[in-house]
Amino acid sequence: MNILSDSTLARGTMPYMGPLLQATAVRAARFLDDIQERRVRPSAEAIRGLDRFLEPLPEGPTAAEDVIGLLDEFGSPGTVGMAGPRFFGFVIGGALPAALAANWMTSAWDQNAGLFAATPVGTVLEEVSLAWLLEALALPAGSGAAFVTGGTMANFTGLAAARHSVLRQVGWDVEREGLFGAPPVEVVVGGEAHPSVTKSLGMLGMGRERVTTVPVDDQGRMIAEGFPELRGPAIVCIQAGNVNTGSFDPASEIIARAHAAGAWVHVDGAFGLWAAVSPARSHLVKGFNEADSWATDAHKWLNVPYDSGLAFVRDPEILHAAMSMTAAYLPTGEHREPSLYTPELSRRARGIEIWAALKSLGRSGLAEMIERDCRCASRFAEGLRNAGYEVLNDVVLNQVLVAFDNGGSPEKTLRVIEAVQAEGTCWCGPTKWQGRTAMRISVCSWRTTEEDVDRSLAAILRVAGDG
Ligand SMILES: Cc1ncc(COP(=O)(O)O)c(C=O)c1O
Repeated sequence: MNILSDSTLARGTMPYMGPLLQATAVRAARFLDDIQERRVRPSAEAIRGLDRFLEPLPEGPTAAEDVIGLLDEFGSPGTVGMAGPRFFGFVIGGALPAALAANWMTSAWDQNAGLFAATPVGTVLEEVSLAWLLEALALPAGSGAAFVTGGTMANFTGLAAARHSVLRQVGWDVEREGLFGAPPVEVVVGGEAHPSVTKSLGMLGMGRERVTTVPVDDQGRMIAEGFPELRGPAIVCIQAGNVNTGSFDPASEIIARAHAAGAWVHVDGAFGLWAAVSPARSHLVKGFNEADSWATDAHKWLNVPYDSGLAFVRDPEILHAAMSMTAAYLPTGEHREPSLYTPELSRRARGIEIWAALKSLGRSGLAEMIERDCRCASRFAEGLRNAGYEVLNDVVLNQVLVAFDNGGSPEKTLRVIEAVQAEGTCWCGPTKWQGRTAMRISVCSWRTTEEDVDRSLAAILRVAGDG
């Protein structure tokens, strides 16, 4: 059966798209308007409702408006309120209005962001947003960049450039020869490096566990005195923003030592790098711009829709050497060809919604969003401390770790976390910090206000008091 045979499309008329997209926009807007008051964790009933999707592959077509109707009726209730103002789990941003709308526009355009010939607009807006990002994040002008799926792939990409560079310095072409028989590369990480860094090392053939680990302090920061003496090709991975505490490694000291030994320094700054945009927090990233590559997310603190991450490399030629490929059928011109800087060839035009987010916020709006989220985190910490609970980290950024057990067993903290999620006003998740079980609060949404914090605090303290 031809999917087009009984639709208005088959008669060559386009209005079909208009009503469908308009009706979808109405549904999506209703979803987002309601999110302010809806419970953050879906109810058990809503999750059971997802059973509606468990059916065999349909034999024939379903009208597009019915497909979207099903999604909205049974899918919307089965979502977690990450797009709302009171989701504080993991490290997850929302989607700014302009970024979401640009994402829809980009999806309508359906551009393949691999090549200028395939998307002039995607390529130009990637170039514009790259320059704006470097400026906003105080990274070296002229750095190269890859627009990737998230922090994990950004770490992978930065470390691939690092691998290329340190091996090229000893005369080894790793892209051509691979790692079999290559000179060994020493990789240094901190004791609280994010697992996506070690995963990336594994994917790059450098080994998840074949690393030298620098001891860290109670905030997860590398202790510079524990930094090893490096001989031979080496890559040092430092962190701007620990996923639990939000702490920053002592960049200036570590980078000076690493560079003195000829090592490459890669920064995992999935959310912490954004401290650079806030005058009140920019001291936290002092020295990080001396590194050689940086990974960050746009889907966290820039609040663009999933998925969106960024890898920056000081020398674009090195990124190009690690990522480029040639094929007779792929045209190249005088423009920057995006796919020569990314792991993927075909991909979504992520630069467009990044451009929209930056354009809509401007420098001042960006700084205000980051600063407000940090103030909200401090407000959480203060409210929890005042109620007698133990905040385990120095709240320097947007992350708060709280234990409800008063130094006792972790069960009470786990019970409170479950009760907070079940109550539904807000959502916070569990973590373990240096042996202690804690509830983790991460504030990264453009929608979160002081009022949301107070409402969430009241709910948390209520259920903690009950438990
Ligand atoms: C410090 C850090 N690095 C890397 C990542 C991985 O990012 P993504 O989930 O976007 O791959 C995270 C995610 O929270 C993170 O906090």
